[in-house]
Amino acid sequence: MNILILGSGGREHALAWAVQQNPKCDKLIVAPGNAGIAQMCDCAAININDGDAVVSLASDHAIDFVIVGPEEPLARGIADTLREAGFLVFGPSKKAAQLEASKSFTKEICDAANAPTAAYAHFTDGDAALTYVREQGAPIVVKADGLAAGKGVTVAMTLPEAEAAIIDLFTNEGAEVVIEEFMDGEEASFFVLSDGETLLPIGTAQDHKRAFDGDAGPNTGGMGAYSPAPVMTDDVTQKALNEIVAPTMAEMANRGMPFEGVLFVGLMIKGGQPRLVEYNVRFGDPECQCLMMRLGGQVLDLLQACAERRLSEMQVNWADDHALTVIMATDGYPGAYEKGSVIKGLDALIEDSKNMVFHAGTTAKDGAITGTGGRVLAVTARDATLKAARDRAYTSTQQIDWPEGFYRTDIGWRAL
Ligand code: AMP
Ligand code: GLY
Repeated sequence: MNILILGSGGREHALAWAVQQNPKCDKLIVAPGNAGIAQMCDCAAININDGDAVVSLASDHAIDFVIVGPEEPLARGIADTLREAGFLVFGPSKKAAQLEASKSFTKEICDAANAPTAAYAHFTDGDAALTYVREQGAPIVVKADGLAAGKGVTVAMTLPEAEAAIIDLFTNEGAEVVIEEFMDGEEASFFVLSDGETLLPIGTAQDHKRAFDGDAGPNTGGMGAYSPAPVMTDDVTQKALNEIVAPTMAEMANRGMPFEGVLFVGLMIKGGQPRLVEYNVRFGDPECQCLMMRLGGQVLDLLQACAERRLSEMQVNWADDHALTVIMATDGYPGAYEKGSVIKGLDALIEDSKNMVFHAGTTAKDGAITGTGGRVLAVTARDATLKAARDRAYTSTQQIDWPEGFYRTDIGWRAL
């Protein structure tokens, strides 16, 4: 089978690593990939948001199966474009990808599905939004929607913070804002494959969003993760599946936009009751690195069965193990940072089925690996206990010689 993976992060390196272990994988190409991925397979430097470029790459290489990593091409409709061109694809349609691209769409679906989530209101007018938060008081959560979605989420612990976030968002013409009730509890991520009909859970994880130890500093894309998430007990997992995921998926199918792909369910759990924080329509990064390390080569069979709408035939073969990943980021991230510093010590590391350094933001230059992204490496280990996985991941980070980089030293602390 010839396989094309779209994306260039640690998530895609981990996907490629797992897929390549499956004997069904004859040829693997990752577009655009990165320096770590290029050490294991061919990379193709194309713009993956350009449907024509992706279709012609897939045609040129007689690709049998395309796996889409990031959300942006999905939200732009790459899965539809590829399906129309006759390719087998893992990833939701543009309509189904609204579950990540539009917060107000997701809220509307959750209302219709009766899925437990935060109470909310949607605004296209700044003054109305300000009046509403003054009535509600803090803590409260302000989320950009629609055109301004890049500006993200403010969890405002005080009213002035909420007001400032709203004023900032409405400096943009055509801004849309969702204001949500603040939910207290412990966060976890739940990953579920859906082929439009059958659901198959494929793991849980917890990540660390703040930049520095002790959950201090600014929010990032994720500084480390571990799987499984202890808070996701069998009971909480069943509740999340029955009360949140299944009704959402049924509502999507009823609306003629069945969700096909991996649903990343962000949950807040308190007193054994999960509530939805958000959906994403792809694997999490760096959660994926932990999931791939635990699942290994069977991932290809699972993703293929999902794309072929055969999930009802599948089951996940779980080992009773734990995985943990530590992100090494460039000094300054998530703010401004310098690009091009040299990372040494990677060649000496042992890489096997239990230890992997997945690359996220690297470039090969003059025979050296350089850091060219904010998040640069995902140092990942798997073992029988979380503590053993943690210890081995940190043994590897200490062997990596990169003065311009930093990492958190407390990944997994909540669970240890
Ligand atoms: P989102 O982009 O919706 O995932 O939000 C980013 C982060 O903000 C989440 O991972 C949570 O940590 C936090 N967050 C979002 N919505 C809420 C909420 N209603 N209550 C508490 N925290 C939230
Ligand atoms: N780690 C969070 C995300 O991938 O969105």
